[in-house]
Amino acid sequence: MKKISISILSSVIIITFFMLAVSCEKEDGNETNISSYDATESHNTGEVCMQCHISGGDGEGWFTAAGSIYNLQSTIFPNATVRFYTGQDGTGTLVKTIEADANGNFYTTEDINFGSGLYVVIEGTSGVFTKMNSILTTGNCNNCHGNSVDNIWVE
Ligand code: HEC
Ligand code: HEC
Repeated sequence: MKKISISILSSVIIITFFMLAVSCEKEDGNETNISSYDATESHNTGEVCMQCHISGGDGEGWFTAAGSIYNLQSTIFPNATVRFYTGQDGTGTLVKTIEADANGNFYTTEDINFGSGLYVVIEGTSGVFTKMNSILTTGNCNNCHGNSVDNIWVE
């Protein structure tokens, strides 16, 4: 009798343990995922990254800003630098810098305080800058670029 209840108890413990382990794995919370020069872990260049990389989505990490950069010939432009400023044209305070990777993608899960809006400047790898004139309150760049607006580009 004692033996049986002990074995039932231990199976319950083992089953509970496995259920917890599986549910933890499935829950998929946020995690740090930040692009850097020459990295190749990213995928889906040109697609709307923040369709999946958000709370409740299945992408790894919830991005606060993400997108893809091309050159004038619409080929991927690797290793550019994305900077967010409080002022237009690279003025005001530099709030965030993101290194784009080898696939032309940039992304971060770090907090970005968009406040009443930020301005973005892209720097290519040979001193060329492009900038968005309008103010941004979202980092979901490919939601517009590559869809309703041309690709983000630099040379
Ligand atoms: C359709 C959904 C979807 C879209 C769109 C998407 N991702 Fe993902 N992403 C995922 C999933 C799911 C994973 C985790 C599994 C995997 O690695 O494929 C992931 C993983 C990643 C990883 C981690 C890979 C690793 O090995 O560590 C990076 C980096 C990444 N995505 C970047 C991006 C970028 C940048 C974009 C947009 C250009 C993007 N993703 C668009 C679903 C998506
Ligand atoms: C709501 C739509 C929208 C979003 C979101 C958006 N853009 Fe733009 N972007 C535009 C429009 C429209 C223009 C052209 C007019 C202008 O410069 O304001 C533009 C122009 C640009 C330009 C100027 C050169 C070029 O490539 O056309 C850059 C660089 C740029 N955006 C980068 C970004 C980055 C980086 C993000 C994400 C942090 C972003 N944009 C998010 C709509 C958007």
